[in-house]
Amino acid sequence: MKLFVDSANVNEIKEIVDLGLCDGVTTNPTLVAKEGKDFMKTIEGVVKLVSGPVHVEPIAVDAPGIIREALEFGKLGKNVVAKLAMTKESIRASRTLKEKGMKVSFTLVFSANQAIVAAKAGADFVIPFVGRLDDGGQKGTEVVADIVKIYKNFGLKTEVLAASIRGAQHILECALAGAHSVTIPKSVIETMIKHPYTDLGVKKFIEDWKKVNG
Ligand code: G3P
Repeated sequence: MKLFVDSANVNEIKEIVDLGLCDGVTTNPTLVAKEGKDFMKTIEGVVKLVSGPVHVEPIAVDAPGIIREALEFGKLGKNVVAKLAMTKESIRASRTLKEKGMKVSFTLVFSANQAIVAAKAGADFVIPFVGRLDDGGQKGTEVVADIVKIYKNFGLKTEVLAASIRGAQHILECALAGAHSVTIPKSVIETMIKHPYTDLGVKKFIEDWKKVNG
């Protein structure tokens, strides 16, 4: 299972890259705005750090604007993926972007039907929002499991990249469902690494060693 960092913060991303755990990055306008810097400069900083896919989302909502912005992002690196909200305009834009050689992901996906459309539109990745589905009273990871099953049923090549991941249980359920990837904030990646029993075990080993060896 691939781990993406859901962030536009170079320090956070660098820490995960240095650990060798970063298979790619997802950004969105909210995450880029949080950095308080120029949009393109922020993305450029991220692209320089990461060899895997970097998903970047246009601000425009009309097909010509989406295409224009996505092609600009694409100039920052071959690994840039145009991350498009699941709308008719994005579907139109997607066709052109694919013809021009860009990879495309469909984001803000909340149903398996949207994921079928994404695959039919030639998406390289589909991005279902697990936490926000939970917020709305659905079970987000069940939607992820449905998408994985449907893609398997029809041999569709679109990769499932689960997002809006709020905690360890989401990751576990996405992994069990067979999602290709999850994109996770750095704080949640930390929870995958740490366990209180590991810390206790390390402490006890050191104490026991000191008892004998001073
Ligand atoms: O990648 C999408 C993610 O950033 C959204 O997360 O927690 O705002 O639903 P959240």
